[in-house]
Amino acid sequence: MIEQFAENVDLGLSKSEKTLPSKYFYDKNGDELFVEIMNMPEYYLTRCEMEIFTSQTDALIESFQADKNEYFELIELGAGDGSKTRKLLAALSEKGYQFEYLPVDISQNALDQLQLSLQQHLPQVSVVPKHGDYFDMLGSVKDSHHPKIVLFLGSNIGNMTDAIASDFLYQLGANLNTNDKLLLGTDLIKSADIVLPAYNDEAGITSSFNLNLLHRMNTELGADFDPDGFAHAPEYNENEGIAKSYLLSNKQQTVEIAAIGKTYDFRAGEKIHTEISRKYNDNVLANILAKTDFTVSAKFTDKNNYFADYLLNRN
Ligand code: AVJ
Repeated sequence: MIEQFAENVDLGLSKSEKTLPSKYFYDKNGDELFVEIMNMPEYYLTRCEMEIFTSQTDALIESFQADKNEYFELIELGAGDGSKTRKLLAALSEKGYQFEYLPVDISQNALDQLQLSLQQHLPQVSVVPKHGDYFDMLGSVKDSHHPKIVLFLGSNIGNMTDAIASDFLYQLGANLNTNDKLLLGTDLIKSADIVLPAYNDEAGITSSFNLNLLHRMNTELGADFDPDGFAHAPEYNENEGIAKSYLLSNKQQTVEIAAIGKTYDFRAGEKIHTEISRKYNDNVLANILAKTDFTVSAKFTDKNNYFADYLLNRN
């Protein structure tokens, strides 16, 4: 795991346009910061999707077209704290569906907490957590031959470029069977005055979240990044519909990373690209789905039309 981290960091910081993979945000501290992000007034995404899950629970469940007499697997990619899913789990079990809940997350810590809280609140639901990144777990999905409903919520797909999202959904489809479902949560393209503050909050939580990458490299890779030497710099282009986060070097500096045995130079004003948060509309999604085995069979939006959960059918 550490070697992979070091390898990814070296690769990203050796490019002419420096990058770091966003999946490394999520250590224990990053998980906690992300929970704070979800509760920030500016971060509308979580509230909007929660509204969909709360006010349209029955319609969502209808769209799954599950058979009450047939056991199915409800797989959640990037489960996090599972607060939205809890609504669904409660309603499914109350309606008498037979299923098992399989949360997949990159964070063991998030999985442990999720399992504990579900044991307390919904002891009747059987939970089988899986630790790993989305791509790693694709193969293990295929091992069972039960019908599957996959949840990929919270605009988690937004961290992928369209090419990667397309490839990922293609591979996911290849590991599913005909009429399996995917519920995909996407943040919708809208104006910068709504989107940008969600990535640039007043309290500076998103800034700490972004800068946490530097702390992680310091503690885990023996790097000597000066966190005060970098600033959180988000951008959003509403034509493109992509929010981007950067770490901006505010001085000329050289950083040594012991675990790699190399130094990296940063110019004053040079940026490290740390994350994309892609926003969607029907067209963006149609292009991404074009080379996959999925088609859209329903769309659920919140009352402001900020967020959409698309129900996709594996053909
Ligand atoms: C977890 C990918 C949905 O992009 O909105 C929040 C991560 N980054 N604030 C997003 C994030 C900065 C979040 N996702």
